[in-house]
Amino acid sequence: MAVMSTLMFPVRFCRGLFYGVSLFSFACGINVLQLITLPFLSFSRRLSYEFNSGVAGSIWHVMQRIFKSRYKGRITYSGDQLPANESAIVISNHVSTTDVYLIHSVAQAQGMLSYCKYFAKDSLKYIPFFGWGMWIMGMLFIKRNWEKDQTRIMNTFSRFKSISAPVWVVSFLEGSRINASKLAKAQVFAAERGLYVPNNILVPRTKGFIATVQALRDSHVKYVYDLTLAYWHQVRGFCAAPGMVGVHTQCLDGYKFHVHIRRFLIADLPQDDEKLNEWVREIYKDKDSYLEQLKNSWEVSEDFRLEP
Ligand SMILES: *[C@@H]1O[C@H](CO)[C@@H](O)[C@H](O)[C@H]1NC(C)=O
Ligand SMILES: *[C@@H]1O[C@H](CO)[C@@H](O)[C@H](O)[C@H]1NC(C)=O
Repeated sequence: MAVMSTLMFPVRFCRGLFYGVSLFSFACGINVLQLITLPFLSFSRRLSYEFNSGVAGSIWHVMQRIFKSRYKGRITYSGDQLPANESAIVISNHVSTTDVYLIHSVAQAQGMLSYCKYFAKDSLKYIPFFGWGMWIMGMLFIKRNWEKDQTRIMNTFSRFKSISAPVWVVSFLEGSRINASKLAKAQVFAAERGLYVPNNILVPRTKGFIATVQALRDSHVKYVYDLTLAYWHQVRGFCAAPGMVGVHTQCLDGYKFHVHIRRFLIADLPQDDEKLNEWVREIYKDKDSYLEQLKNSWEVSEDFRLEP
């Protein structure tokens, strides 16, 4: 076993290096392509949107292949089945960087992988190549808080609306990945404010979600998808997710990945901000209960399969 692990280390290191370098080069290449085509595509917003989404999607397709084919990550699904090519606001709990693979596996099966747009930290924009590419492809960068960035985000939504851009606006309402100390803080915060005290998620921040729904209410984006992501590992147990490096360096057959999907028509959601706030808090409460059940015994119903 000891020999095995000392042998495994250089193997994993080389794999990590290989995928790191190749994905980085791929991103650089795409970035150069984006920059070259920028002036030519500026005459058509739609064409520019399709092109830049497509090139970003090509990286994500490669990452999904690595996850599913190379490292045997197997994901099960339950809940509502989604129609293809449908734009939506997508909300999810946030456990790990691996969450994007789970979300993307759903997006890919629905033909929406290229159109996933995330709310991302503004600082990411300055990462050479990756960040620039994310900026060009229309990621929604948030500097500090919702109030400060509202105008910019509303402008991005107006652009989506004006060209009826196919889009999944993906947002992790908890704002950061869960861990033990953040959960403890969230529980204190919730108790102090008389909010529901969660055990498996953090307290959602609802302002951005409410504004997003209100901004897109009368647009081609007609649905909210609620995804609950769950992880299980044969040794580490519930909620243990591989990290970004782990996903690209090791076989994933010791993990179980599950996505529970719900689909809501925006027209059916409360109009009023305060009621919408209650609605989304209730959604997160349901998420917490769902995860609590899985924590006690990992019994997922595999309602359907998704193939890219
Ligand atoms: C989804 O879009 C793709 C590409 O535009 C198209 O080939 C496919 O037929 C569409 N699927 C449905 C069910 O509309
Ligand atoms: C949780 O994350 C925070 C912020 O990234 C970090 O400071 C803290 O040490 C982490 N706690 C645990 C228990 O991992």
